[in-house]
Amino acid sequence: MRISVFRKEHFNAAHRLYNPNWSDEKNEQVFGKCNNPNYHGHNYDLIVKVTGEVDPETGYVMDMKELKDVIKAEVIDRFDHKNLNLDTEEFKNLNPTAEHISHVIWNLLRKKIDENFALKVILYETERNYVEYPAD
Ligand code: NI
Repeated sequence: MRISVFRKEHFNAAHRLYNPNWSDEKNEQVFGKCNNPNYHGHNYDLIVKVTGEVDPETGYVMDMKELKDVIKAEVIDRFDHKNLNLDTEEFKNLNPTAEHISHVIWNLLRKKIDENFALKVILYETERNYVEYPAD
């Protein structure tokens, strides 16, 4: 029996959306407020979905404590209360859009979660704007 389990986490981070190949005018035009040169913050909600067979001995897909600890070590400790552009290796040369952040998070978690499990990441940048990786 295959079941999906979910863990919801939260982190705060600052960013600036910016394409160095464009003029300041074009950056302002495309990214608007998210291009603010002095950065701005978001309250990110992260949902991690793990799908796999239920272990007949435990009745679990995976131990949620283990999932919580992996997300904390790989994502929360790395990005919470950070300026994504300035403080992280991952976004030094990568525009920190929700799309890119979800992809980076997926790659970090994928290395730590058993490959028998399918993994999906949903990232809310605001209450109304969110992304999913991988796409269906
Ligand atoms: Ni923003």
